[in-house]
Amino acid sequence: MKHIHSYYSPNDLYNKIISGLNEMGKDLSGVTLDDLQPVDEFHIRGDVATKELIKLASFTPDMHILDVGCGVGGSTRRLSHETGCCVTGIDLSDEYIDAAERLTRLLNMQERVKLHAASALDLPFDDNAFDGAWSIQMNMNVEDKLSWLEEVCRVLKPGGRAVLYEVCGYKNTPVHFPVPWAQDSSMSFLLPPEQFSDVIRSAGFDIDVWNDKTDLAQKAFSQMTEPSGEPDLPELGVHLLVGNDILTKAYNLHRNLDEERVSLIETVAVKSDV
Ligand SMILES: C[S@@+](CC[C@H](N)C(=O)[O-])C[C@H]1O[C@@H](n2cnc3c(N)ncnc32)[C@H](O)[C@@H]1O
Repeated sequence: MKHIHSYYSPNDLYNKIISGLNEMGKDLSGVTLDDLQPVDEFHIRGDVATKELIKLASFTPDMHILDVGCGVGGSTRRLSHETGCCVTGIDLSDEYIDAAERLTRLLNMQERVKLHAASALDLPFDDNAFDGAWSIQMNMNVEDKLSWLEEVCRVLKPGGRAVLYEVCGYKNTPVHFPVPWAQDSSMSFLLPPEQFSDVIRSAGFDIDVWNDKTDLAQKAFSQMTEPSGEPDLPELGVHLLVGNDILTKAYNLHRNLDEERVSLIETVAVKSDV
């Protein structure tokens, strides 16, 4: 897991994000969720997908939700902002959690959004602690998916809903690397959708909703062309999170989607009462 941790550990991330905002001419006292979206919602279809997941989740303001693999917390904050829920985010990367905490304070959201560095395989919470959970594009880095999902099930109250928005394998292999979540195959563990759904059930969930979003992912990346020369990168973007080869990674994701090597699944799984 060490190499996954170091992949997601850029130096001085918070200050790089602040420099990007400054270069864009943003007034730091009035920074909004939308201003940060290019860097803090690191998943396919960004804030559009997060808003769809919020609708799908139907979490209510009285709930306490766990975001597993929250990155720098963009979706954690958006979920709290749009629903009024308290949301706790955990992520393997201390550097991401440091940036997530400081961005949360910058937006004055620290009352309802809490963040911790922790592994999804060993959640530092009591059994039945949360009303709901979500995980957005983290499973790709997790080899032991059963332990991860059993941990999520353990900390959820009976009947609690887990919303997962995850890249899976598909009909063809191998995957072209690098991709946004992995430099090479040693960091990427994709199961085809049917096998992923089997693991979700084995961990103690019933599957309530299962939507294949692969076509929307293909559309989102359809304009990607093979990069050449020095990359022309924006002031604020996910290159700050995973490196300046992000255009190559995005182009490979486009190829993997088009060649049916990866798929995109959105699901709601409910913790069984028994
Ligand atoms: C592609 S990013 C998505 C981040 C965030 N969910 C978002 O949508 O912006 C994948 C995240 O999963 C985290 N991650 C990977 N393996 C993990 C693990 N075993 N436990 C906790 N977090 C993990 C990484 O550190 C990274 O922040």
